[in-house]
Amino acid sequence: MRKNIVAGNWKMNTTLDEGVELANDINTLLLANKPNCDVIVCVPFTHLTSVHGVIDKEVLGLGAENCSEHEKGAYTGEVSAAMVKSTGAQYVILGHSERRQYFGENNEQLLAKTKLALANGLMPIFCVGEVLEERENGSYNDVVSSQIEALFSLSPEDFGKIIVAYEPVWAIGTGKTATAEQAQDMHAHIRKVIEEKYGKEIADNTSILYGGSCKPSNAKELFAKPDVDGGLIGGAALQADSFMGIIEAFN
Ligand code: PGA
Repeated sequence: MRKNIVAGNWKMNTTLDEGVELANDINTLLLANKPNCDVIVCVPFTHLTSVHGVIDKEVLGLGAENCSEHEKGAYTGEVSAAMVKSTGAQYVILGHSERRQYFGENNEQLLAKTKLALANGLMPIFCVGEVLEERENGSYNDVVSSQIEALFSLSPEDFGKIIVAYEPVWAIGTGKTATAEQAQDMHAHIRKVIEEKYGKEIADNTSILYGGSCKPSNAKELFAKPDVDGGLIGGAALQADSFMGIIEAFN
């Protein structure tokens, strides 16, 4: 059976001290209130090792927010999948819309990153989602299909390790959430696209998270939908209380 997951995406927020404190607070709260889902924090590269040192693997997983599409070598400023793995992280967000939009990441690069993440034992949290114009002109299902299809050269075994996050770009950081029905429709669509390629078992076992202004007040309604298996949380993951409020939607 697929897992329910709540993952935080801290983006470019918190200094090292602030980040370690936040991770520590979340960890303490989770130890006191065992979650009914997997919980992950995806943190800046600079924080990975220190955060790894303060969290308890039994209740809190650790991920990076990106990795390089190159294995190693003369790529000044880049961080490889092997480097991420060596910090103790188990996950990596790939294809976030901010990476696609601001850093021009394309399907080919994202496939290369995904392959390197998997080869290094990291589980990718692979983000897909349409922009407002595509939502309004009705092309959103096709847009998201093609983002998922970019990974279809992966073996079934490898694809089975991917966590998908549907994040409508118009809902990220805008306070505007997709309705639970819009999320469910897209998640069911994503699962169908996966099923057509990899079969029912892999499709049924793939966790598909919703992201985009998810908060304690709307998480329960979103997560109650049959194909919504949790959330990828930005702004609301930066405070232990609001992050816990979302995790508790699974109680
Ligand atoms: P948000 O971000 O929760 O602040 O909308 C979600 C994300 O970008 O992962």
